[in-house]
Amino acid sequence: MTRYTATALAHPNIAFIKYWGNRDAALRLPVNGSISMNLEGLFTRTTVSFQPSLAFDELVINGREVTGPGLERVSGILEVVRQAAGIPFRAEVLSETNFPTGAGIASSASAFAALALAAVKAAGLSWSESAISRLARRGSGSACRSIPGGFVEWQMGAGDDDSFAVSIAPPSHWDLADCVAVVSSGHKATGSTEGHALAPTSPLQSARVADAPRRLEICRRAILERDFGSLSAIIELDSDMMHAVMMTGQPALFYWKPATLAVMEAVRAWRRDGLQAAYTVDAGPNVHVICPQSEMDAVTTLLREIPGVTQVLRATVGGPARLF
Ligand code: DP6
Repeated sequence: MTRYTATALAHPNIAFIKYWGNRDAALRLPVNGSISMNLEGLFTRTTVSFQPSLAFDELVINGREVTGPGLERVSGILEVVRQAAGIPFRAEVLSETNFPTGAGIASSASAFAALALAAVKAAGLSWSESAISRLARRGSGSACRSIPGGFVEWQMGAGDDDSFAVSIAPPSHWDLADCVAVVSSGHKATGSTEGHALAPTSPLQSARVADAPRRLEICRRAILERDFGSLSAIIELDSDMMHAVMMTGQPALFYWKPATLAVMEAVRAWRRDGLQAAYTVDAGPNVHVICPQSEMDAVTTLLREIPGVTQVLRATVGGPARLF
């Protein structure tokens, strides 16, 4: 008998070149390509079971039942899979995440990547990595980058068919780390989905998007050549450009706290003193400090000395989403 159940594990990722703004919000087709690194040690593990006895889809995250918009977003992904596989059954989705939400690492990327892979396998479909990446993208854009392993590029594509992520280098290619300086664990005021919709209201967004191919090329090359100097410059520029867009939209979004800026300034100063470290900030106040794994302990010690930094989370380079 077919069991219609599967469990998958996926890592979150940190974007080096950011996704900010959609040309199709429903399909999550972005206005620019993006590049990220998967985060080893942090993960979401999700089991999907399609069951004839269920009247509705059910979602349990870290032991708590979720209903409303969260469940609807998950059902949207399950529906695509049901249609493709010709399965009429509703599903039970059980999900566990091993890192604190609100700690500056988006759980939607690992969550929708694990969901997409588990749902496809539970339905008995043999989809390619790119097809699963496209499905994950529809749940959360950045989730498409958590399907392939290591250093990953999401090619914006011309439409749904060719907007997916591919690995540009495996985890073993470059021993980098992400030390996340948590400066606030409160829930952010404006989530990414709402933020993407505001991006076109900034007069700076068109310049950011027009320049994206150049930044992507520099970032891709820096990764392939393991050129930390060039990587530092481009990821800080890209993060600053995204925040400039956020700050100049209507309404304006200011994600930074005073301690965010303190960490950014400290990282620049450490680099002038010869430490290899670079910052990047997502849609929240916490600062991701990217460094070689050999500098991880030094960076962590320095970050803990900065007033306002409450916690430092650490991750190395993660592999692809996989069945568990
Ligand atoms: C700033 O993928 O979280 O982290 O598709 O609405 O779920 P949704 O948005 P999401 O946006 C990520 C924004 C970002 C940059 C990035 O990860 O590329």
